[in-house]
Formats: sequence, C-alpha cells, structure tokens
Amino acid sequence: MLLVSWSAFVLAPQLQLGGAKQVPVLNSTEVYPHTRPGEANQGLQVYRANGCAACHTEQVQQDGVACDVVLASAGKNPDAVSNLLATLTLRGLSQEAAQAVSDKITAAGGKVETHIVAVGPDIARGWGLRHSVAEDFLYDNLVQFGSLRIGPDLAGVGSRLPDANWQLLHLYAPQSVVKGSLMPPFRYLFTTRKIGAAPSPDALNLPKEFAPADGYEVVPKPEAKELVAYLLNLHADVPLYDAPFTPVVVAKP
Ligand code: HEC
Repeated sequence: MLLVSWSAFVLAPQLQLGGAKQVPVLNSTEVYPHTRPGEANQGLQVYRANGCAACHTEQVQQDGVACDVVLASAGKNPDAVSNLLATLTLRGLSQEAAQAVSDKITAAGGKVETHIVAVGPDIARGWGLRHSVAEDFLYDNLVQFGSLRIGPDLAGVGSRLPDANWQLLHLYAPQSVVKGSLMPPFRYLFTTRKIGAAPSPDALNLPKEFAPADGYEVVPKPEAKELVAYLLNLHADVPLYDAPFTPVVVAKP
C-alpha cells in the first residue's frame, strides 16, 4: 500500500513534471516563465505566512476555446461589408463556423483575422486570459494553489490591478477601495507613526474615515511592499502551446 501511494503521489508527478523547463511563448521569441524578482519572491513567503491562500486561489480554469472573427479592413466595398457584418455572428464561434464567416466576409471584399479566445466562467469573470498550466508555477516555492474562493482568483491580479498604491490601500483597509469588502484588513503589515520633520513619501493616502489621527501617518513595512511586489508579479497571461489564445494588441498612441 505504501509503495502504491508513494508511486502515485510522489513518483508519478515527479516523472511528469520534475524536469519541467521554461517553454516558448507562442508567436514570439520569448520564453516563459521568468524567475520572480527578489522582492516578489520574498512576497510569496509573506503571502504564504498570512494565509492568503485560505481565501484566494491562483488557478484559472477554462472550458475550451472559441473563435472570434475580427474585421481587419473593410476593403474597397465598405458598405457591402458592413451590411453583411450586421447579419453575422462574429464572436464565440467554433472553428468551422469562424471559417465559414470569414469566407463570406472575404468574398464581399473585406479582410478578417480569426482570434482564438479562452472561454469558461473564470475567463468570463476577468480572472485570466487562459487556464493555468504547470509552467505558471515553475519558480514558486511553495506553490499557492489555494482551494477556497472567498475572494477572487489572483493568478492574473498583477495585470488586473497593477497599481501598487491601490494594493497597499487594499491591504491596509480593503473597504477604503472596495465598498463593503469582506476581506480582513492586514494592518500589522503597516506602521502608524508620528509624522517627523516631513511626511514620508511612502505614507498611504487614505480616505478620511480610514486615516490615522492628525499628525500621524501609515507607512508600509517591508513585508507589505514585498507582498505587493509579489501580487503585481502575478500575471499568467502569455499564450503557450498547451494554452493558446490570441493576445489583444493594444495600439500604441
Ligand atoms: C477571509 C478571507 C480573505 C483572506 C484571508 C484574504 N482575502 Fe483577499 N479578498 C477577500 C475577498 C472577499 C475579496 C473581494 C473583495 C475585495 O476586493 O476586497 C478579496 C480581494 C482581494 C484582492 C482584489 C482582487 C480583485 O480581483 O479584485 C486582492 C489583491 C487580495 N484580496 C489579496 C489578498 C492578500 C494578499 C491576502 C493575504 C495577505 C488576502 N487577500 C487575504 C477575502 C480574503
């Protein structure tokens, strides 16, 4: 019995994933993942020590993929193309349906691109662009999967909420930035102290009802900064061979 369970829970995963390496990002010369920078790596330990994984997962799930047909150019006959577009469904199609739609538009003179998008409840909630894969956790020691979702999944929180100040305010007083938040405040990651000769540049800019008494300021301890560095470093959002999608290219102004 011991040998069977050891083989199933230790040996088999080791054989499957023990030699996992960085993998290429689709349509790019980059590899994925990069190691977490030092501060973010420390932050992982703060995350672990504070039991954040009791309420948060870091694993996005997905039901499958769908195709979106996107018009790249209307070509020489824009009226005919826009009339045609009004009669077609362009999003959430199967591969065959997408092909049929793009054939129709191409025949009318338009140019289209077919985008692959992940679908599923987690994706619809905006928690990520694709499901989590083993590589996302390659450099995490220990991996913070979590299993309960009292709060949102955090696998992509660095892309969703990239403002370090917001994150600090949220840790000190969740309700100061999210009305009615049920997340407990983590005040002990901050120091409340008398303002010296000048206010500290790190001091939190808290709304009135959360601000300390006059003459006092709230500054993050190193743990709070490390934790925020870790949160901002959580963005599992590149397309990979086993989790493909078409990245949204934001046009540069
Ligand atoms: C008792 C459960 C609980 C614990 C423990 C907890 N959280 Fe939360 N968290 C929540 C809830 C509920 C929300 C949703 C409300 C909100 O945004 O404040 C949330 C929201 C968040 C968000 C915003 C996510 C988003 O997409 O809006 C972040 C970031 C976050 N938590 C980080 C943390 C970190 C870091 C820790 C550990 C220091 C932690 N949480 C511990 C319950 C918890």
